[in-house]
Amino acid sequence: MSRARHLPPARLDAPLLSVRKVRKSFGDHLVLDDLSLDVDAHRVVVLIGASGSGKSTLLRCIDLLEDIDDGEIELEGRDITDPRLDANAVRARIGMVFQAYNLFPHLRVLDNVTLAPRLVHGSARKDAEDEAMAVLERVGLAAKAQAFPDALSGGQQQRVAIARALVAKPAVMLLDEVTSALDPELVGEVLALLAELKETGLTMVVATHEMGFAREVADEVCFLHQGRIHERGAPAQVLGDPQEERTREFLRRITG
Ligand SMILES: Nc1ncnc2c1ncn2[C@@H]1O[C@H](COP(=O)(O)OP(=O)(O)OP(=O)(O)O)[C@@H](O)[C@H]1O
Ligand SMILES: [Mg+2]
Repeated sequence: MSRARHLPPARLDAPLLSVRKVRKSFGDHLVLDDLSLDVDAHRVVVLIGASGSGKSTLLRCIDLLEDIDDGEIELEGRDITDPRLDANAVRARIGMVFQAYNLFPHLRVLDNVTLAPRLVHGSARKDAEDEAMAVLERVGLAAKAQAFPDALSGGQQQRVAIARALVAKPAVMLLDEVTSALDPELVGEVLALLAELKETGLTMVVATHEMGFAREVADEVCFLHQGRIHERGAPAQVLGDPQEERTREFLRRITG
């Protein structure tokens, strides 16, 4: 029952992900205001901005968890907001990881990682387990494959959640504050994993308050303010020499 077959072919001449003039309101609250963002393959784009600036909403719109009111979102050159496309087939191309890792507590780590491929893509169990072990190896947790989630640290659980997203070989990973629920001493291992994944060429859009990570790993930093990208550029520029007063104010506030 592979639904991925039902997607039109990818267009390789297009940016991997293209968000164009996306508008989204909740009631009369405009949350994304004609927001545009292109992400080329193998790039890491980091979204920063105050609480409520629209970072999660943008990621949720890309993952089709929210309907947009206007604009379009293309993934691999296809308009994924076209209602004729199978939303599950689109989501299978996107790996989304949230702050709360949402592992199934009654399933072993390996089964948490193989569940989606078995249900969504109908892969044979053995193939799914081989793939899952390879991905657990990548996130440094092969030794924990038979453990239950509550026997793992928060950082390890989040790495399992990242493995679960990776196993579908997504075109892009969307990560929303994946370290905010972690104890400070566990943040580093998850950020180090993301840095390693970047080295393998994975394309990522990452909402984070971790400015050190943004500075070291991002190819581009986008500062969101009131549903728009207010300033964007290389991390050294946006974080080190911001041109906009709002950006300076935000950075002053979070660096204390
Ligand atoms: N389902 C919803 N219904 C109503 N309002 C919503 C909904 N989801 C988000 N909002 C509002 O949209 C605005 C943007 O929220 P969003 O979660 O995208 O911000 P954010 O930049 O991710 O913030 P944070 O840094 O706190 O995670 C906020 O004002 C929020 O209250
Ligand atoms: Mg958020």
